[in-house]
Amino acid sequence: MAMAQDAVTIAGATLRLVQGDITDQHVDAIVNAANSTLLGGGGVDGAIHRRGGPAILEECQEIRRTRYPDGLPTGDAVATTAGRLPARRVIHTVGPRWHGGGAGEAELLASAYRSTLARAREEGLRTLAFPSISTGAYGYPIEAAARVALGAVADELRVHAGAFDEVRFVLFSAADLAVYREALRQLS
Ligand code: APR
Repeated sequence: MAMAQDAVTIAGATLRLVQGDITDQHVDAIVNAANSTLLGGGGVDGAIHRRGGPAILEECQEIRRTRYPDGLPTGDAVATTAGRLPARRVIHTVGPRWHGGGAGEAELLASAYRSTLARAREEGLRTLAFPSISTGAYGYPIEAAARVALGAVADELRVHAGAFDEVRFVLFSAADLAVYREALRQLS
């Protein structure tokens, strides 16, 4: 595993940490930290719908009508158009709300990352940008979330070697980037 401070190579894919806004990422798929309604919200969800435009919400509403009348389950993921975003697709996933750690949160968070990567593989999307899922409004402690997130993505890159070129974690603050840096260091 080649090491720099903010990037590692795993089975030929680059896992990279960056600080920035997820809606600025020029990748195949931007990942949304959605909620089960798929009808928008604040944080990442708000930024993606605001910048991506109404086409994204229209597709989300269609997905709710035709496939998920009761909402997208936590840990699952669906893909839509990226609208005006600099990406081909948006993959919406629902992370767990934090309830103290005894309600299967870690497994549900890992599932959100794995399901997102599965949707990407299904559509041949080779570069992705993830936000730090569940560590905002959903209250998941970021140190624990970073370990789960990087571990799940690293495992998937190994299991599906050759499926991806780059998986990026886009951290909104320097503090969040520092937490993920430490988790990445422990991963190696
Ligand atoms: N780019 C990158 N990261 C961002 C951005 C952005 N534009 N905006 C916020 N973040 C960061 C937050 O600082 C946090 O670290 O993304 C992380 C996830 O925060 P949330 O967006 O609040 O997502 P989450 O904790 O998963 O909560 C999901 O919030 O917005 C609603 O509809 C959403 O109900 C759902 C809930």
